[in-house]
Amino acid sequence: MTAHEPVGLWSAPGRVNLIGEHTDYNEGFVLPFAISHRTVAAVGLRDDARIRVASTFTNEPVEVALAELNTLFPTPAGSAPAVPEWAAYPLGVAWALLADRAIDVPGVDIAIASEVPVGAGLSSSAAIEGAAASALNELWSLGLSAKELASIGRTAENEAVGAPTGIMDQTASMLGEPDAAVFLDCRSLQSELVPLGMAEAHLAILVIDTHVKHAHATGGYRDRRDACERGAAIMGVSALRDVSVADLDRAAELMDDVTFRRVRHIVTENQRVLDTVEVLRAEGARAIGDLLVASHASMRYDFEISVAELDTAVDAALAAGAIGARMTGGGFGGAGIALIEASAVDAVSAAVLTAFADAGFAAPNLFTVAPSIGAHRDE
Ligand code: GLA
Repeated sequence: MTAHEPVGLWSAPGRVNLIGEHTDYNEGFVLPFAISHRTVAAVGLRDDARIRVASTFTNEPVEVALAELNTLFPTPAGSAPAVPEWAAYPLGVAWALLADRAIDVPGVDIAIASEVPVGAGLSSSAAIEGAAASALNELWSLGLSAKELASIGRTAENEAVGAPTGIMDQTASMLGEPDAAVFLDCRSLQSELVPLGMAEAHLAILVIDTHVKHAHATGGYRDRRDACERGAAIMGVSALRDVSVADLDRAAELMDDVTFRRVRHIVTENQRVLDTVEVLRAEGARAIGDLLVASHASMRYDFEISVAELDTAVDAALAAGAIGARMTGGGFGGAGIALIEASAVDAVSAAVLTAFADAGFAAPNLFTVAPSIGAHRDE
């Protein structure tokens, strides 16, 4: 195999979701931000029509003909991808980009390196998709917008990797801006940047990565999606976006307790996103603590996607003076976030470490993140 010198470097970040969990595939609202941890794709052009992907995740590159992508994907529901899972992200992006375009594009070598922790609920997968999609969009002269590239990333995730996720992560990774959150209506796909003013207010976001691994292609995530669809069908709407807090009494009468609690999480979480945007605009980030805490409680008791480590992280951070705290991402593991005074990073971190040790849990990884810029070309 000959190596091809990269013609450029493109990168895309992971994300933290400030609030709005599992609302994206219910056509509701989300408020994530891109973080400073990024994934870089170095891409070289080949003189044949093949694509090779290599990454720091493994020693084994994967190479296929571009024309073969259509035989590899889509991955049949419930099956593992025909290539190693990490390779399904960039190859899935290439497949989704080429899907219905009868165009002649050059082959590429893509080397991927990532500083976004994998399995932490910080969207390491969206970061790979965003970096690969940005690079190929440019090198193949496709002219797609950032939002269209986000949707390409989601197609790769849903149909090549087989994870039934929504559009939040890819949108945050593509559209993020420094010191701002991306307020996205997942039905219209209209988005707006909401300034966070973190540094000005002397605030910080502490990430608490529990090291409890989750996978969204299987298990609980899919099960929650099914419950939401069931709830929507019972309410006679196409998506839970169309159920309001005022409808909840009626919902309680129509469905079993578990389905009702799943529905109540989505309905109240949508409202919390809208409230958070309003409070951020009117009073700033210092005032959103109660909304973050209510969001966590809703995930813990109604949607039941938290785990003991995440609850410990949230409870310990709050007891140590955090303004707000919640788990972030799909749940069943991953990370929590705490909104804290910038001066309290050490004290809150120490309190969380102590609580984990007392509970007999492995020590979490603690670091702060700043809302950062989305995908772009670096060189
Ligand atoms: C994962 C998915 C997102 C979203 C979140 C939960 O991160 O990729 O689409 O559903 O879980 O909010």
